[in-house]
Amino acid sequence: MGGVIPEICVIKLINMNNTNSISGKTVIILGGSAGIGLATAKLAAQEGARVIIASGNQARIDAALQQLPAGSQGYAVDLSKEESIAGFFKTIGAFDHLIYTAGENLSLSPIVEADIEKARSFFNVRYWGAYTAIKYGAPKIKQGGSIVLTSGAAGRRGGASWSAASSICAAMEGLTRSLAIELAPIRVNCIVPGFVKTNLWDYLDSETRETMYANAASALPVKYVAGPEDIALSYIYLLKQPYSTGESLLVDGGHVLI
Ligand SMILES: NC(=O)c1ccc[n+]([C@@H]2O[C@H](COP(=O)([O-])OP(=O)(O)OC[C@H]3O[C@@H](n4cnc5c(N)ncnc54)[C@H](OP(=O)(O)O)[C@@H]3O)[C@@H](O)[C@H]2O)c1
Repeated sequence: MGGVIPEICVIKLINMNNTNSISGKTVIILGGSAGIGLATAKLAAQEGARVIIASGNQARIDAALQQLPAGSQGYAVDLSKEESIAGFFKTIGAFDHLIYTAGENLSLSPIVEADIEKARSFFNVRYWGAYTAIKYGAPKIKQGGSIVLTSGAAGRRGGASWSAASSICAAMEGLTRSLAIELAPIRVNCIVPGFVKTNLWDYLDSETRETMYANAASALPVKYVAGPEDIALSYIYLLKQPYSTGESLLVDGGHVLI
């Protein structure tokens, strides 16, 4: 064959150049002011993407923008409100990828003690926020673009008092599979994190939190609790993986196995 590259390889190389890199692409991260979302925004920017973050708290957005390259943009959007989400997407032009990482602290309780209105409200930001963002955002996604949602290992591994949290996580995985069909060729995937050290656990006092992390670390097969940077790698992977859609990727250090 000498130096001749077979035609099929040439097509593959062109395809990789077009879809595998996020350099120069516009990536929107809803929930990008902190934790997993901010770590993903930083990694996307390092790979040459133009990053737009949105969250509810302007001061946190400003602090996050200080950690992102010049040219990154931030918007205050209340992801529990349809008007706020619709207004944001009206302001934004066409873009390539949408990542949804927004979520707030949940209080866990046994079902017989549940405050039903509160349990319902836990779906607002995590589930309905994502659903609404896709309603208004998907029509603006460019060819070759994708969506990555966020679930949690609680959807795969049940636990006493975790019923509401587990339900939200399982719902996200179902949503991912249906939208992968409905929105095709836009790819729709989901990351399923286990324990991650972020502000999500700040409602615990520091001693309780550190004890929880230490117990989790000693039980997990990987022997440590992830930082948000570990999980960010998986969002970037799914943005770049052109053959994955409808996938919910578990990144839990082995939590569901123990
Ligand atoms: N950390 C874990 O152990 C873990 C495990 C499994 C799954 N997860 C999931 O991963 C996702 C990210 O969590 P994280 O750990 O990165 O938490 P985090 O550090 O607390 O970040 C949550 C993000 O959501 C934003 N947010 C919350 N309410 C909002 C609202 N009403 N409108 C707009 N933005 C809002 C926050 O921004 P503002 O405060 O600026 O509004 C922040 O940017 C969540 O869905 C969580 O359930 C986390």
